[in-house]
Amino acid sequence: MVGGKRAIFFDGPGGSQVPLTVARAVSDYLLHHNANTGMDFATSVETDELIHESLQACADFIGCIDPLEIAFGQNMTSLNIQLASALSRTWGEGDEVVVTRLDHDGNVRPWVLAAEWSGATLRKIDVNPEDCTLDMKSVIGSISEKTVLVALGAASNLSGTINDVKKIVEISHEFGAEVVVDAVHYAPHSLIDVGDFGCDYLLCSPYKFFGPHQGLLWGKGERMSELPVAKLRVSSDEIPFRWMTGTQSHEGMAGTMAAIDHLAWIGRVSSGQGGLTRREALVEAFSHIEDHERELCGRMIEGLMSIEGLKIWGITDPKRITERAPTISFTHPRISASELGRKLAERGVFVWAGNFYALELTEALDLEPEGVLRAGLLHYNTGEEVEEFLHHVGEIIES
Ligand SMILES: Cc1ncc(COP(=O)(O)O)c(C=O)c1O
Repeated sequence: MVGGKRAIFFDGPGGSQVPLTVARAVSDYLLHHNANTGMDFATSVETDELIHESLQACADFIGCIDPLEIAFGQNMTSLNIQLASALSRTWGEGDEVVVTRLDHDGNVRPWVLAAEWSGATLRKIDVNPEDCTLDMKSVIGSISEKTVLVALGAASNLSGTINDVKKIVEISHEFGAEVVVDAVHYAPHSLIDVGDFGCDYLLCSPYKFFGPHQGLLWGKGERMSELPVAKLRVSSDEIPFRWMTGTQSHEGMAGTMAAIDHLAWIGRVSSGQGGLTRREALVEAFSHIEDHERELCGRMIEGLMSIEGLKIWGITDPKRITERAPTISFTHPRISASELGRKLAERGVFVWAGNFYALELTEALDLEPEGVLRAGLLHYNTGEEVEEFLHHVGEIIES
């Protein structure tokens, strides 16, 4: 509550709210099963079981067959730096690494560093400034037989743009390059299917899809087994444990599994089919989530576009609504993003101002240092909240 009114949570792209079942799963683990792994006493056995059960839940979430291809970590950024440092040890001069100007820095800087460490050359894919999509000519021009890795996002956390990951993976694979996909922003909105994407590695963060603060890395088993990841002599050389340095957040794993089960519950309830498997239920859940979020997103774009002078950075054509996530960033010449964000905060509307670490994009669009105002919708948001938000934005800009 802010000022006696219910707050409006449009801050989901920075981290979503969690259902009670997630908070309870974290607390239940800590109160009843808390231990380190690998011993014969009850709580240690239960912890080992929890790790395997939560890996299976994550496999259902991203659509992979072998749960041992998934590693838990602190967050996406730390896991990607770990992946980049392992891959960089396999590259050398003459190799090329490709990043995009649409990505969060968490999927840019690790690869810039990996190129520096290995002597590889870095290339950047440009964006079309008019709708914040990837410039396909630049995609074609950047990937060649020298490319060893292409790093791209499934969806932009600033403009909401959903990339044609499958197509870029196909192009990359034709040249023998591996592809790492940042699915952090995509994960709460649409179903991840690593088989369909065809990528080699994928990362996401449960705290963006209704879980606790944690990160997930998936990679093809053969590569996850052979890459020279930095690890202790005493730790296991088996996947995924060779990637999971030190003692992990077991309570985080319990919460992540509960978040995935919550999404599956949405799928069972909204489809009226209680007997679905977890993966089937997730397919249903995301189909309903997409419908709901697209309706809200369309209305928010329409309402914002009716405010004179306001500029939305990203796709605005209602016919192209499936090409974007419901994350809407905008600027107005009469008010800075930070001031608008502060005034909305006073009215109990939680939004972000700035670049949200999508620094390549704000630089490409010449929006530094002020950035944009970002309203991010999730399935728990309502049409009334969108109307209230539009009313506040209109009133603040006119005042
Ligand atoms: C698209 C995207 N990629 C990567 C990250 C970094 O994720 P993490 O906080 O788990 O390191 C974020 C965080 O906002 C993001 O939105």
